[in-house]
Amino acid sequence: MRLTRRSVLLGGLSAAALPATLSMVPRPVFAEAAPVLRAAPGLARIGPEDAAKTAIWGYDGAVPGPAIRLKQGERVRRRFVNDLPQASTVHWHGIRIENAMDGVPGLTQPVVAPGADFLYDFVVPDAGSYWYHPHNRSWEQQARGLYGPLIVEEAVPQEVDRDEMLLIDDWRLTEAWQVDESFGALHDWAHGGRLGNWATVNGDGDLSVPARRHERFRLRLVNTSNARILTLALIGLDGWTVAVDGQPLEAPVPLAAESDRIVLGPAQRVDVIVDVTGAEGEEAFVAGTNGDQRFALATFPISGVARTVRSAAPGALPPNPLPPVDPRAVARSVTLTMEGGAMGGLRRATMNGRTYDLRELAQRGKVWAFNGAVDMPEAPLVDARLGETVEITMVNRTAWPHAMHLHGHHFKRVGPDGGLGPWRDTDLVAARETARILFHADNPGDWLLHCHMLEHAEAGMRTWLRVG
Ligand code: C2O
Ligand code: CU
Repeated sequence: MRLTRRSVLLGGLSAAALPATLSMVPRPVFAEAAPVLRAAPGLARIGPEDAAKTAIWGYDGAVPGPAIRLKQGERVRRRFVNDLPQASTVHWHGIRIENAMDGVPGLTQPVVAPGADFLYDFVVPDAGSYWYHPHNRSWEQQARGLYGPLIVEEAVPQEVDRDEMLLIDDWRLTEAWQVDESFGALHDWAHGGRLGNWATVNGDGDLSVPARRHERFRLRLVNTSNARILTLALIGLDGWTVAVDGQPLEAPVPLAAESDRIVLGPAQRVDVIVDVTGAEGEEAFVAGTNGDQRFALATFPISGVARTVRSAAPGALPPNPLPPVDPRAVARSVTLTMEGGAMGGLRRATMNGRTYDLRELAQRGKVWAFNGAVDMPEAPLVDARLGETVEITMVNRTAWPHAMHLHGHHFKRVGPDGGLGPWRDTDLVAARETARILFHADNPGDWLLHCHMLEHAEAGMRTWLRVG
């Protein structure tokens, strides 16, 4: 943590100004103060070296925010301090978290006003790759740079030479390299969301990581874009996908089997274990793709040799303690019909119990609906008993893909053959596609289900579930 003048001063004051009688009050269980995680404006060099610095909003004033790395089963404690000019909260994406710590304003906690703070304190049950971001006006706050890595290590980590989380972001910048202030543009909201014109990895527009031939990396790829679906290619790196959305695959899947394309919707993660297969003197890349074009996101200049032959294939990561889902045990089944957006044909929808036509909705910045309602409905989509297996059939009647994210749980998609996909917390549902997902409702509380294209969520695509 960086000590700012203000936190030093406050620390000094609270000790000195305490009247003697107050010391009789029982102290909270944690005598030790939680480290501060401060959302604050900052300046960052995200453009090329000769470009101006960009005014951003970041955790501890930086983009990405500080890496939170701990072991499975340990506790995260952070006093979130909001030094932004807007209210905010922190959501710990993908963590099967205690409901009160989930960071959803109006559902799990009040919003944290400018100048106020909130103590986040929770245990991480699963190892894997996660991240944190705001959940209030996230379509603006995340676009300004508010997000950070959260890595939960396995009890026995995989043997690799290097373990890196790469947070890939899509910025919309002006020619002066400043965040484009076109927030809330209805055209974006009704189409694919706010798409950018500049990509960074870990806040760097030209990330370079030295590598040696046959060196083995675990790369934790995270899409922190507001709305862009990334299609990545690995060049000079070959290996296996070992986890998605934090959860280990049953067995590593060779990347070749996916024809070197890794599709990452907003908020999704993929962990790969790769060996540097490029020759000495060459460069390896994590590349973005756009049709046939490829552009470097992260460059790995190769010099030297780590070992003469490639290491043996890795084993699977140890499974996390997720209760299995059984398609024959479905206790509750609901349909979520997604409508709206450009070319979507939405005519009317309800909002706060009133019906509006499309024009009235658009005037209010609402263009998408779940089951005929925009924004949070009064009643939950599902009211499940603790321990039930729940099935949600998501019917995408729109002309756009949506990155559907369920809070507090991981789920599996039921394939066309009835087989189950990997655990996910965010799943891309293609235009006009129907996706059936199953989850075990074992985490009590009220949980959000929304599109992680942040403009779509704000423009209507939010609902919630009650468990227990
Ligand atoms: Cu990553 Cu509801 O959020
Ligand atoms: Cu969407």
